[in-house]
Parts: sequence; C-alpha cells; structure tokens
Amino acid sequence: MDSATVRAKHTEFLFPCVANYYEEPVVLTRGAGSRVEDADGREYLDFFGGILTVSLGHCHPHVVETVHRQMQALGHTSTLYPTERAVTVAERLARLTPGRLKKSFFTNSGTEADETAILLAKLYTGSQEIIALRHGYSGRSLLALGLTGHAPWRLLPTQVPGIKHALSPYCYRCPLGLEYPACGVKCAQDIEELIRTETTGRPAAFLAEPVQGVGGFITPPPEYFQIAVGIVRKYGGVFICDEVQTGFGRTGGKWFGIEHWGVEPEIMTMAKGIANGMPVGATIAWPEVADSLRGSSLSTFGGNPVAMAAVDATLDVMERENVPQRAAERGARLRGHLEAMKEKYRFVGDVRGMGLMQAIELVEDRKTKEPAQGKTLRLMEATKRQGLLIGKGGLYGNVLRIAPPMLISEGDIDEGARLLDRALGEINADD
Ligand SMILES: Cc1ncc(COP(=O)(O)O)c(C=O)c1O
Repeated sequence: MDSATVRAKHTEFLFPCVANYYEEPVVLTRGAGSRVEDADGREYLDFFGGILTVSLGHCHPHVVETVHRQMQALGHTSTLYPTERAVTVAERLARLTPGRLKKSFFTNSGTEADETAILLAKLYTGSQEIIALRHGYSGRSLLALGLTGHAPWRLLPTQVPGIKHALSPYCYRCPLGLEYPACGVKCAQDIEELIRTETTGRPAAFLAEPVQGVGGFITPPPEYFQIAVGIVRKYGGVFICDEVQTGFGRTGGKWFGIEHWGVEPEIMTMAKGIANGMPVGATIAWPEVADSLRGSSLSTFGGNPVAMAAVDATLDVMERENVPQRAAERGARLRGHLEAMKEKYRFVGDVRGMGLMQAIELVEDRKTKEPAQGKTLRLMEATKRQGLLIGKGGLYGNVLRIAPPMLISEGDIDEGARLLDRALGEINADD
C-alpha cells in the first residue's frame, strides 16, 4: 500500500481520536537503530522513538531474536501458570529499581500500570483519596483520565471520586507567580493545604511523574519530591512514582528518574521503554504493599512470555551498554545544542529536561511567554521536511519533545540537532 492509501483508510476505518502528527501523516514501514523509513522510501532520523518507547533503537537485533525464539517456543500461557521469563524479569526489576521495591504485577500498558498502582494504594492504606498533579498524564481509562491534569485529554468529567490535583512544579510558568529558589518550593508545600482543605485528611497516595512527560518535560526543582512526599506520608499516604516515560535510564545517570530526587517510592509504574516497543506495563511495590492485593485480579496478557522475553532482552542490552550513562552523555551533548538554539532564536523560551528527555518551549515573546502554538505546528512540518521526527506536547501545544533511542550515536545527535536548527531557522526567516 502506498502512503496515500494508508492515510485514506486510516481516516475511514479508525476512530478520529487516533490523531496523527503532520498535515500529511508519515506512514512508517521500516526502522533500524535511530532511523526509520516511510512507505515512499523517505528516511527520517527518529528523535521521538515512538513516544519514548523504542528505548534501544528500532528492531534491535537482540530483542528481535529473543522475541522470535520465544514465539517459536511458547507464545502464551496466561497468568494461571508461572513462567521462567516472568519471574526472571520480576527479579531483574527488583534489582534495578530503588529502595525496597520488590514484587511486580504485569499488564500491557502504562494506563493499566497506573490503575493497578491506585488500586493497590487504596487497599494498602484503606484510604480512598488520591493527590495527582496538574499537567500530569496517566493514560486513557476512566480512572486515568481523571488523574490526568490536562483538559484536552480529559474528555469526560472525572468519573472516579476523590482525585485532587496539586500545583505542578512548572517553574517556567510558576502557578504561584514565584521564582525558584526564593519561592521555597511553595508548590510542594501547598500539598499540605490541599490535603487539609480538599480531602478527609487521609490520602491514599500521591501519584506523580518525576518529569512530567505529556506536560512538556516539566522538571521539578531538586527539593520538590522530598517535600511533597514527606507531606503525603505524614498524612498516611504512599508515593506512586510514574516512571512510564522517565524509567530505564531515560533521565541519564540513574535507572529511574526519581533517583535524582533521592526519594524511594512505595509503588512505581513502568511501561513504554521497558520492552523497546512491545506492549508491557509493570507495577512494582514494596512487599508489604503488594501483599495487600490478595483478591482475584488478573491480566490475561500481563506477563505474557513473548512480552517478557522482550523486556528480558531489552534489559540485557541496557545493562551491557550502561544505558543510563549513555543517556547522560548523549543527553548533555543534545542539551548543549539546544541551549545554543535558545541563544540564537528569540522564540525559544525555555530549554529543560534531563538526560535524553529534552524539551524546548516556544513562545511569541520571551517577556509575556505567550505560547507559540501556530509556530510549533509550522516547526513540526519544517522538521518533517528536514527528515527529522520529534514530538510535541504541553498543555498549550507549544513544547517540542526530543527523546531519541538511547543507543543513539554522537554523530546522530549532532545530525538531529543540525536538522532541528535548520527547521528553526526556516520558521525564524518566515517571521
Ligand atoms: C507518564 C505516563 N503515564 C501513563 C501513560 C499511559 O500509558 P499507555 O499509553 O501505555 O497506556 C503515559 C502515556 O503516555 C504516560 O506518559
């Protein structure tokens, strides 16, 4: 099928909410490493990795081969039978995750991982209320929509009662109009007021992403999680750390994003990059927390041997190649290029992120910080013309999200930055 036919059938046979990037969406057919090719034979450098999911690079040979072998040996068992693959992966996750996180529950997506975490927190604490964050994203189930702090993704009023949204630690657009560090991280301190005024005073959990992904790679200040989690624990709640985007080395130097803040969550959720593109969600918890989920609950496909083989193989490569270190080094190089672009273009308002999770926020004016939505759309088209795939995000649709596969070479980082600079230059010349 050619690109035009695929696009036409997509419009005719898929739900319209399955929205694509670009006026004329790119129909991808092949990938290898950091490069992908479309149905018309055009090559692109992939700086978004299927939304931070192709963590090692497209079609990594070790993952492909391991999955292939597993599929030939045994494709599915359901959770009614223990498998070597599932216990091996669970043991590996217990080893890699921080603190006392030990027992895992496997599902097929980040949404389900977060659902499981909330269920677990409620059962463990006996409390019902959840503190989530404005600008956060948790997925597309009715519960996850309620946890999500973005009107465009909400679709329905919150269906599950008891969810309260705390202020986002969005320093570039501080919700309190303050400046870090003079602010004293008031956004985190305000959680105490939120608990005392908006809840029964007994929250079950605080759910947060270390870096808010869909929110536009919003990176909280260094003290944020110590303060926020400290308050929630004081009132009896646990901390659910959503590492769906930030996990597995993405933030550079550590396996999990939250390790940069020195806080050990009781529950952690993972998906996306865990299996280099195979659909896997995981919820890991302290043993006594996990042990509170004793009733009947299963996921037919959760822990499927083929999916677990993909995780196992992805972790083999990540450990062998020291992916967290790689992400730190390549991320620093990328960040250097982006900072230079901020110097060069007035409409680059902010550069932020960690490791290989970097964003630039586009504004009409650096003083007013008016979000440059139209420019962002034009920039997306310009990057496509340059042969570069990047992501877009943020509540105002004005944040470019850059998160290439973590085995990317230095040369490809430089090449992608050059293409992005050219695209920014095109937009600059238009204005
Ligand atoms: C932080 C975070 N949590 C949860 C989810 C939901 O994951 P999924 O789309 O796999 O259900 C996402 C997806 O983007 C996410 O970014």
